[in-house]
Amino acid sequence: STTARAQIGVTGLAVMGSNIARNLARHGHTVALHNRTTAKTDALLEKHGDEGDFVRTESMEEFVAALEKPRRVLIMVKAGDATDAVISELADLMEDGDVIIDGGNSLYTDTIRREKEMSERNLNFVGAGISGGEVGALEGPSIMPGGPAEAYESLGPLLESISAHVDGEPCCTHIGPDGSGHFVKMVHNGIEYADMQLIGEAYDLLRRALGLDVEQIADVFRDWNSGDLESYLVEITAEVLSQKDAETGKPLVDVIVDAAGQKGTGRWTVKSALDLGVPVTGIGEAVFARALSSELDQRSAATDLKPGVIGEQPADTDAFVSDVRAALYASKVIAYAQGFDQIRAGSEEYGWDLHPGAMATIWRGGCIIRAQFLNRIRDAYDENPDLKSLLLAPYFRDAVEEGVESWRRVVTTAAGLGIPVPAFASSLSYYDGLRSERLPAALTQGLRDYFGAHTYQRVDKEGTFHTLWSEDR
Ligand code: ATR
Repeated sequence: STTARAQIGVTGLAVMGSNIARNLARHGHTVALHNRTTAKTDALLEKHGDEGDFVRTESMEEFVAALEKPRRVLIMVKAGDATDAVISELADLMEDGDVIIDGGNSLYTDTIRREKEMSERNLNFVGAGISGGEVGALEGPSIMPGGPAEAYESLGPLLESISAHVDGEPCCTHIGPDGSGHFVKMVHNGIEYADMQLIGEAYDLLRRALGLDVEQIADVFRDWNSGDLESYLVEITAEVLSQKDAETGKPLVDVIVDAAGQKGTGRWTVKSALDLGVPVTGIGEAVFARALSSELDQRSAATDLKPGVIGEQPADTDAFVSDVRAALYASKVIAYAQGFDQIRAGSEEYGWDLHPGAMATIWRGGCIIRAQFLNRIRDAYDENPDLKSLLLAPYFRDAVEEGVESWRRVVTTAAGLGIPVPAFASSLSYYDGLRSERLPAALTQGLRDYFGAHTYQRVDKEGTFHTLWSEDR
């Protein structure tokens, strides 16, 4: 029989699970391995068994018996029913104080429910968002663990040891209670959607408004990957654009079907934002843009709609490239400001007491949205933890104000030429909405009072008012 010597167990050894298990072993931890079927366990041991100290197990009983107490098990199976099934199986075998970690992409409301169920059984349940894809899982992801603070005391050092590090700091911290880790991971993914949509719009403008070829655009992104826009996504945009298709010799991007897929985390973010009443327009436009791109039948039926172009190709290429850069940066600030608003709203709704600066800190490395920019976000929240909007932090305010004319030129040019820029345009409208002294919402209130007696408030005195709109109604 197995001696209980593993510091942690990983169950679910598909790509993410295997890579996390290897990462743990490479950092000197003894890792018990388990998978529903042993094929994946054996494949991992055969290929990478020499990377560290693994304990092979077959049954769940054997797996749990291989773990030191308090036991720690990281579940890396498919989100949803499979996760529930594995949790229930594990919980029956575990004892008071043991820790179950769900490292999958679970919906935070599921995590809230599971944490409650497990705490009633005296088990610690930690929903941990893990970002960074396959490579991140192996070489250092960004980890967002929620759950009880006591659980983090024993688990934290282990997770921090395998996370990415930036300037010596781990990209892993205790986020807050129950579902907060998965919530924050969800918003992270939403921001990732917005970031990618903005990059796509910038690329489209350089191509269609300026007529640059794909290789030239790759160079532009390479150039942008220094200074404020320096980020993983901008870096890999240059690489994706430089890639040639082996078969045709064309830029690979030209042979890829232009229908963007989604696994659902962007949609979750927007649904949650709707419930919380937070305008995450950048993320929303990104999700909708993917949906539009995937309506291939509808699109092909609509290609002969009149373009009605009223603009011309910008005369000064360099000037327009620099405008697009500014528009991209400003829109990105908006997308992050909105995402952080959602984190604050979620924190208030669920009583999580989240610290936005901590999120910025752990997103600096390991994850897909890692970027220089996050240092600035962290500084902004360090300086003022109660920041009303990221947009109002002096650094971001200056940056956006400096780029606002460029931003308007880009959106105007795109509209004139008939190039879709939903995220650029809606971010600019958000900016204009936020800074407007008066909004047409006063008219909306008037209309609501007219047809539904919903009442309104006045600018000049306290109270609630209703107008008798007309005698003959
Ligand atoms: P993949 O990522 O390989 O496409 P997946 O269906 O998403 O596969 O499953 C990922 C992991 O969840 C696998 O380790 C899978 O176990 P198997 O190798 O036995 O398929 C695991 N998994 C999926 N459903 C499960 C369930 N109901 N119970 C336990 N493990 C499950």
